[in-house]
Amino acid sequence: MPSNAPSPPAAVLCGLAGWVPPRVVTNEELADRLDTDDAWIRTRTGILRRHVIEPGQATSDLAVEAGRRALRSAGVDSVDAVIVTTTTPDRPCPATAPAVAARLGLVGAAAFDVGAVCTGFVYGLATAAGLITSGVAGRVLLIGADTYSTIVDPLDRANAIIFGDGAGAVVLRAGRVDEPGAVGRFDLGSDGTHEDLITVAAGGSRQRAGGDEVPPRDRHFAMRGNEVYRHAVTRMAESARTVLRTAGWKIDDIDRFVPHQANLRILHAVADDLGLPPERCVANVDSVGNTGAASIPLALADAVADQVVRPGDRLLLTAFGGGLTWGSCLLTWPELPLPAHPYDRGEETAP
Ligand code: COA
Repeated sequence: MPSNAPSPPAAVLCGLAGWVPPRVVTNEELADRLDTDDAWIRTRTGILRRHVIEPGQATSDLAVEAGRRALRSAGVDSVDAVIVTTTTPDRPCPATAPAVAARLGLVGAAAFDVGAVCTGFVYGLATAAGLITSGVAGRVLLIGADTYSTIVDPLDRANAIIFGDGAGAVVLRAGRVDEPGAVGRFDLGSDGTHEDLITVAAGGSRQRAGGDEVPPRDRHFAMRGNEVYRHAVTRMAESARTVLRTAGWKIDDIDRFVPHQANLRILHAVADDLGLPPERCVANVDSVGNTGAASIPLALADAVADQVVRPGDRLLLTAFGGGLTWGSCLLTWPELPLPAHPYDRGEETAP
């Protein structure tokens, strides 16, 4: 391209926020009601605590809080589209995004959900970028929000220890590929031959919700943890390598690796596989657990608030989730107002 040609259009990240509900569940609290203990949870997952909603709250309540803060961070009060990515929508029908948009004063904006389980945020970023670069939307609010406490059996010690509730959001605007914040290359993939590794069996068209014929275990989240662990490490490392190769970046070009916060062992195994020093790997899973589609924007909000991620840093975002799905994205971090720490809420209260 000649040097005076305009640079191609891009989606540029211009707002960021995270939100978790105030109630904290510690490992000790779990050990009081489950056959587990703090040491087992710490060593297997690196998780010390997680946040959960109160009865009566729902995913949209967290999404609205994160979305409101992200709009404030971007300094805007309108967008053309609202995307909510979640595995725990308020209801099977309709999508959660229109109600979230309405509560944010955004009636009229396009609004829809994206489902890719824990890879949802990276899929959502690619979707938002597509809307912007195709000229369909000038500005998009993307919210990753999940309340796994509503689908995990509280007596299931293998899963109750891993997941937490939370939401994270970003605002994207139309801009140029050479601007900091431009979401660059993507790698997205799936392998549905392993759909049974992470499931909620009932509640969809295959096995309908309700009725005594649905066994209680089919209403809850189920995961084959050992197999998921192996796929997560392999797929995340492969996806990261693919996106780096496509962009012509080397692993040494990455200042911060911001992976889906599945569990600390997985994050460190992926970083190790990629040859990334552990200190370049952003992790807040100790404080929030695995928050599904919220985990990457929550980790980002945490790291930007702590100035672990700074303007000009080159970031690699990589996620893995049920489906199976995986995805990666590269970007250079832009200058943004520092977000509030997602779980240092001071006097703020949940809706
Ligand atoms: N406390 C104590 N013991 C527990 C336990 C708990 N909370 N959960 C399971 N166990 C037991 C098992 O019953 C098993 O006992 P057994 O040997 O008598 O049968 C033993 O611990 C080992 O279980 P296993 O599943 O092999 O443990 P693990 O080392 O694989 O760790 C996970 C379990 C779930 C922590 C691990 O598989 C994992 O991290 N998987 C990936 C999960 C994940 O991050 N998913 C998100 C991807 S998006």
